[in-house]
Amino acid sequence: MVVDNKGRISYLRVLKEDLLILRITPNEGQVPDFKAGQFLTVGTHIPREGKVIRRAYSIASPPEQKSNFELLIRWVRKPVPGRLTTEIFNIKEGDEISWVKPTGIFTINQTKPDGTPDQRRMVLIGGGTGLAPFIAYSLHLKSTNSKREIVVLHGASYVDELSYRELLTQLEDESIEGGRDKWNFRYRASISRPQEWFNRTWGGQKGRVESFLRPKAGTDKSPLEELVGEKITPDNTCFYVCGWQGTVDGALDYLVPKGFVTDRQKRKDGSYDVKFESYG
Ligand SMILES: Cc1cc2nc3c(=O)[nH]c(=O)nc-3n(C[C@H](O)[C@H](O)[C@H](O)COP(=O)(O)OP(=O)(O)OC[C@H]3O[C@@H](n4cnc5c(N)ncnc54)[C@H](O)[C@@H]3O)c2cc1C
Ligand SMILES: NC(=O)c1ccc[n+]([C@@H]2O[C@H](COP(=O)([O-])OP(=O)(O)OC[C@H]3O[C@@H](n4cnc5c(N)ncnc54)[C@H](OP(=O)(O)O)[C@@H]3O)[C@@H](O)[C@H]2O)c1
Repeated sequence: MVVDNKGRISYLRVLKEDLLILRITPNEGQVPDFKAGQFLTVGTHIPREGKVIRRAYSIASPPEQKSNFELLIRWVRKPVPGRLTTEIFNIKEGDEISWVKPTGIFTINQTKPDGTPDQRRMVLIGGGTGLAPFIAYSLHLKSTNSKREIVVLHGASYVDELSYRELLTQLEDESIEGGRDKWNFRYRASISRPQEWFNRTWGGQKGRVESFLRPKAGTDKSPLEELVGEKITPDNTCFYVCGWQGTVDGALDYLVPKGFVTDRQKRKDGSYDVKFESYG
């Protein structure tokens, strides 16, 4: 049976008309223990539906953040307005909301099947709001002093949809200033509609986020390989992908021919190199 807990909207930041960050503070006690990459089921009673509508949202805050959950939410408007997101985009700070305890398997793999630590570079590919679990990953790995190399790649249609750009840039700056032996973090973004006037200032990677994996014209090196300075192989890198199914498929189109194996088709020894979560 679903057990609904009560919480209050303790922070609301509208990034643009259909994209926001909100925090839910539990009415009683602290945020329960959970793992970076899990999702929270949020619900509210919708009078015209005559029932509580619940939906899953990846938790963007790390498990160490005990006072509230942070979520990154897109207002779904097409082909018809989404039931819960339309409510959420009319919510105010202080309003009450229900939440069901975190769950999910899209979590960080710290060990190999033989129990030894997995020390491979982690490349985290987020399409749109699919970035949310990787904010939790990054902040969790930072607060646990992880020495793994982390590369966050974010794809968005418009520059003002590069949520968490300041935070991710700051995490990379800390890596540069403090030394990669202490914190090894890189962040790059890609804009998929670079020709639109609103994106005229964009000078970075262009195309959907999976274009970071595509060899550059006339070379056999992808922008990701240029960034990390070596060839990407299943021995040195594992991938986590979240967003549209098209983003997952686009990434797999490059990775599978290179011998990368997903968690849904593990090798005989139980090992794999790509984990993904998508819907829609
Ligand atoms: C594990 C997981 C994590 C997620 N994390 C996030 C996240 O971090 N951020 C985020 O923004 N979302 C996330 N989602 C998506 C979220 O759970 C919801 O699916 C999304 O917010 C839409 O919910 P809704 O109630 O507003 O839309 P719904 O009412 O469920 O509608 C969904 C879609 O169906 C269409 N639709 C609805 N009714 C009809 C109809 N009668 N005829 C035709 N089309 C219809 C709507 O227009 C919309 O396009 C996640 C989902 C999962 C499974
Ligand atoms: N844990 C989870 O499972 C989880 C968490 C958060 C979000 N999500 C899901 O991730 C998806 C992202 O939604 P969003 O509104 O945030 O994204 P969005 O802003 O519409 O798009 C983000 C990026 O993905 C590209 N894109 C759009 N449709 C695509 C497709 N079919 N195939 C490949 N790339 C595509 C866009 O390119 P264009 O500019 O070319 O359109 C854009 O660059 C949704 O399905 C969302 O529900 C899943």
